[in-house]
Amino acid sequence: MTWYSHPQARSWRCAAPSDSVSAFHQSLPNYEYTPLIELPTIARELGIGRVFIKDESARLNLAAFKILGASWAVAQALTNGSQPTSLADVNAAIDRHNAPALVAATDGNHGRAVAHMAAQLGLESHIVIPRGVSDLAIANVRGEGAHVTVLDCTYDEAVDRAKEITSGLPTAIHVQDMSWDGYTDIPEWIIEGYTTLCVEIDEQLRAIDAYPANLVAVPVGVGSFLHSVVAHYRSRVDCAPSVLSVEPVVADCVLQSLTRGVLTSVDTGVTIMSGMNCGTPSSDSWPFHHAGVDAAVALTDEQTREALHTLHELNIDSGPCGAATLAGVRQALNSSERREALGITNDSVVVLISTEGRAANPAL
Ligand SMILES: Cc1ncc(COP(=O)(O)O)c(C=O)c1O
Repeated sequence: MTWYSHPQARSWRCAAPSDSVSAFHQSLPNYEYTPLIELPTIARELGIGRVFIKDESARLNLAAFKILGASWAVAQALTNGSQPTSLADVNAAIDRHNAPALVAATDGNHGRAVAHMAAQLGLESHIVIPRGVSDLAIANVRGEGAHVTVLDCTYDEAVDRAKEITSGLPTAIHVQDMSWDGYTDIPEWIIEGYTTLCVEIDEQLRAIDAYPANLVAVPVGVGSFLHSVVAHYRSRVDCAPSVLSVEPVVADCVLQSLTRGVLTSVDTGVTIMSGMNCGTPSSDSWPFHHAGVDAAVALTDEQTREALHTLHELNIDSGPCGAATLAGVRQALNSSERREALGITNDSVVVLISTEGRAANPAL
């Protein structure tokens, strides 16, 4: 089963996420809106009004969107949740005689973002990487000065190893982009951090008279980013786009959870979409998936490779996780029943979130 739909999700509503994160992101060196690029040939192919791709290949000088979440979570953790408005505030809060190390497990992008924050703040970082991550992505993490442990294990096992490293260091902070029982503050801040991306999309669409989007396609690993997109769009009063979850077939834990109606772990395999190769949905995000996600698809590497090829021909710098959204929308709009379930017509506006560029993951 590689398709799930729940049209009632569009009428579900939740509280708006905190908006204090925007000011912090705007204070960061090199912050600017990432491009929202129109793709008329894809709109024609799909038989819809307009298609845009949000290009995260150069977010804050890194090749993926993950720094949005890591930067805010690290800032909040180091200031005891005091909503800092700049890196200077965060720097001032660090006790240099007892400086904490930052620890994370990663499929590549999140760990690089945490290590990047550590480097900017003069802190140590320890990053654990499971199998299946490209040499380039590993080198990117090392390039940030992190202590890197590469293990022949799954993502979930790498998270366990990061927990052990954290408890073995006197002042370490585990900055993980998923929640579990008793570990919720940092993932919540990460999810808040991601909302900057949707705020930008809305403003960019408004500026060209294309607001609101009717469908937003989201690449999914543990589903923290999906949670952020759901929380953003299900708390608006003036729009309710369909939200499409896109996963690899070898790591479709959110699709399986949605289909069964209960949080479900799956055994993961090997995929070019390494950032999405996760076996367990984040526990605090699952209720948002359950209530607020309209549809979910699962993709083979072949389908994602085709989408990568299409995007590269159009000069869009997408890595596999980014291109997965095009492959996902191709699947989600391939029958009139599915289009109807998603509320998509010939005039609809669709946004593909391309969460990484080729420099994050070359899809070897
Ligand atoms: C590029 C990219 N896209 C999407 C995701 C999925 O995000 P999440 O794990 O929050 O679902 C990740 C996760 O690492 C990623 O690196």
